[in-house]
Amino acid sequence: MTSISASATAGDLHDRIEHLAAFNADRAAGGITREVYSPEYMEACRYVAGLMKRAGLETRFDAVGNLFGLWEGTDPQAPRVLTGSHIDTTLNAGKFDGVVGVLGAIDAIERLRAEGVAPRRGIEVVAFAGEEPRFGQGCTGSLVAVGALTREDLDDLCDRAGHSLAAVLRGAGFEPDRLEDALIDPARYHGFLELHIEQGAVLEDAGLAIGVVTHIAAPHDLRLVLRGAAMHAGATPMVLRRDALAGAAEAMLALEHLACESPSGRTVATVGVVQVRPGAINVIPGEAELEVDVRDVDETVRDAVVDAFLAEAEAIAGRRGLELTHTDIGRRTPAACDTDIVEAARSACVELGIEHLDIVSGAYHDAMVLSAVMAMGMIFVPSAQGVSHSPLEHTDPADLDRGVAVLTRTLARLAA
Ligand code: HGY
Ligand code: MN
Ligand code: MN
Repeated sequence: MTSISASATAGDLHDRIEHLAAFNADRAAGGITREVYSPEYMEACRYVAGLMKRAGLETRFDAVGNLFGLWEGTDPQAPRVLTGSHIDTTLNAGKFDGVVGVLGAIDAIERLRAEGVAPRRGIEVVAFAGEEPRFGQGCTGSLVAVGALTREDLDDLCDRAGHSLAAVLRGAGFEPDRLEDALIDPARYHGFLELHIEQGAVLEDAGLAIGVVTHIAAPHDLRLVLRGAAMHAGATPMVLRRDALAGAAEAMLALEHLACESPSGRTVATVGVVQVRPGAINVIPGEAELEVDVRDVDETVRDAVVDAFLAEAEAIAGRRGLELTHTDIGRRTPAACDTDIVEAARSACVELGIEHLDIVSGAYHDAMVLSAVMAMGMIFVPSAQGVSHSPLEHTDPADLDRGVAVLTRTLARLAA
């Protein structure tokens, strides 16, 4: 049995996670904000590229900032194994989401090299750009890589400040007009494997250290705008109001109820962004804009919840004399992990004597996007109290080491 060595590189892994956490625009609020293409993100990329070079990988950025590091195999013609995740964060987040899959992959390669392994298939590490939805929808880097975003999408997708993805790409020195150069050739890849924190509490509640992911839920993200009448907060009787925010609040509660009552029992719905205009204490809100995220592993159930929500929102707007418009921000397809990769991960756990649990991912990941063009699988490590997307996000060092050990053995199997 391969002992789980608390090898020198393991310490490096934890130090590296702390080092990466310092590339942060958010010190005051106590969490980590490292949005894709921001100055701190680009510094983090340079640091990770340095680690890749130190591990003997050939590094490159593609036209939209996806960062690759290749360990060529003994058979350069054999389709490669791709592994990695992302190092951008959402707002006021933690230090492990995505980072564990990129730094863990580099650590796994250093362990395999130290063992003298010479993989037949090349192993390529990737840090996909924009897994977090700075531009409204997530996974923009991997979506470009699989050909799921058009050049005009890069103009249409905008961040909170109204900057388009295309403009931000140019500002960061990348090339939105050379989108096709970022396309990956599926024939060159044997599959994609992503190590990630669970971001929920299933593993912790089960007292288990490793999750082997079988399915990944997918989001349907949409924007709703309710328009009423901005009027004087004091002089306007309640019966004469067309209060856009009151209507939005009623619609949000209807959405929550629909998700709770969903037939799958696992539909989740969130309104994470609300904008109110004009936004003054003494003006009845004339306009309310909601960004809505609805997810399930069952696409039919998910889309039925969205349809029922939109019908309910129309009825609420009608009753309140409001105008409702809605547009899709992004609509992704839930993904099933490849059975061979799932089996390889389970075997790696058995080889290491680590109990594992088959698990469904409620979070989406680049692996979900890659499943459109290649076999993919994911390995989860526990999140303390199931907390993620928060400064309180934490995974124990021993759990991280176990995750990297399983990743290492699984990569060795897939690259043989
Ligand atoms: O939102 C998600 O599921 C991912 O963490 N970006
Ligand atoms: Mn995330
Ligand atoms: Mn993530």
